[in-house]
Amino acid sequence: MAKITISVIKADIGSIGGHIKPSQKLLETVENFVKEKGKGLLIDYYIGHTGDDIAILSTHKKGVLNEKIHRLCWDVFVAGTKVAKAQGLYGAGQDLLVEAFSKNVKGMGPQVAEVEIEERPAEPFLFFAADKTDTGAFNLPLYLSFCDPMHTAGFILAPQIKKGFKFFIMDVSYTKADRIIELNAPEELYNIATLLRDPSRFVVESIFSRATGEQVAVASTTRLHNVAGKYVGKDDPVMLIRTQYNFPATGEVLSPYTITPVVSGFLRGSHYGPLMPVKKNSQVSFFDGPPIVNCLAFSVKSGKLTEPADVFDQPYWEYVREEVSEETEELRRQGFFGSAMVPESELEYLGIEKTLKELEKRFIIRK
Ligand code: F6R
Ligand code: MG
Ligand code: MG
Repeated sequence: MAKITISVIKADIGSIGGHIKPSQKLLETVENFVKEKGKGLLIDYYIGHTGDDIAILSTHKKGVLNEKIHRLCWDVFVAGTKVAKAQGLYGAGQDLLVEAFSKNVKGMGPQVAEVEIEERPAEPFLFFAADKTDTGAFNLPLYLSFCDPMHTAGFILAPQIKKGFKFFIMDVSYTKADRIIELNAPEELYNIATLLRDPSRFVVESIFSRATGEQVAVASTTRLHNVAGKYVGKDDPVMLIRTQYNFPATGEVLSPYTITPVVSGFLRGSHYGPLMPVKKNSQVSFFDGPPIVNCLAFSVKSGKLTEPADVFDQPYWEYVREEVSEETEELRRQGFFGSAMVPESELEYLGIEKTLKELEKRFIIRK
């Protein structure tokens, strides 16, 4: 069986009415470009948006970090940016941080998650995309699905996944190269938890099955604020997770999203808010948020994708969304105060730093 690669490359290249959602025309431009220029290169593709971000999910035989695949997506985003500018969309080309493409889009602004697989007899996988939040937003759900029998009942019910999973965790504060640690669950649960508690610094990059050695999950890890050295918007991560057989079941991967962990992002990328699971192609609005995540389930055969099943479009998640709204309300009531706003090191605008500098001169030591 030939290997296939599933790639998702995502960027914010402009949106309607602020940072809300891309225009229909922009989405059509991206779709037509991929359809046209992807001929002979891609086996299949799917285009969707999450808030103001457009994701290109594709299947092909070129492996990860392939120059042709990455160039195609880059060129799509450049072409889309022209349309976004012509339409007067806000933040046109926002995530394209460099002038010219070289080799692959890593470190150039777009988020990337790719996995090369040997297809199983049936190959179900989940494609997650989040908006108005950071790359570390998936840390807690991943920990719970791949370590904890409270969510993955398979750890006690299904002998084949009992061997556990290997985590690759990246220190995203290190910008010169990829700084990675490999940790095994369940033996090193406490070490994994110690790192994942700080999603602004440590981010799950990938997960492998210890029973078969296969890769199960991959998440994007680019921190724009480390790439550009200044505020350029939040990272709005993407992630791919294969499910079933020797891996957690789809429902076990989805189970932690009921917890709606509080993540950083939201308005001006500077606030905390619980992560709301939403339907596909959702927009944001309240307080430029809330932080949202959507998840599409696909099956793939010889690289051909089925239509997506929109997993958060189900009555159960209506209840979760209600709950998140209440929780969000509580946190928002305290505005800028204390733990409603991210710490100074994570702030995406310079206003507070500037004011503090000015006020610094006016402090006196009382005699
Ligand atoms: C958050 C976000 C928005 C903007 C805000 C101000 O990720 O994108 O909350 O930060 O709308 O936008 P600018 O600075 O573009 O005027
Ligand atoms: Mg944006
Ligand atoms: Mg966004």
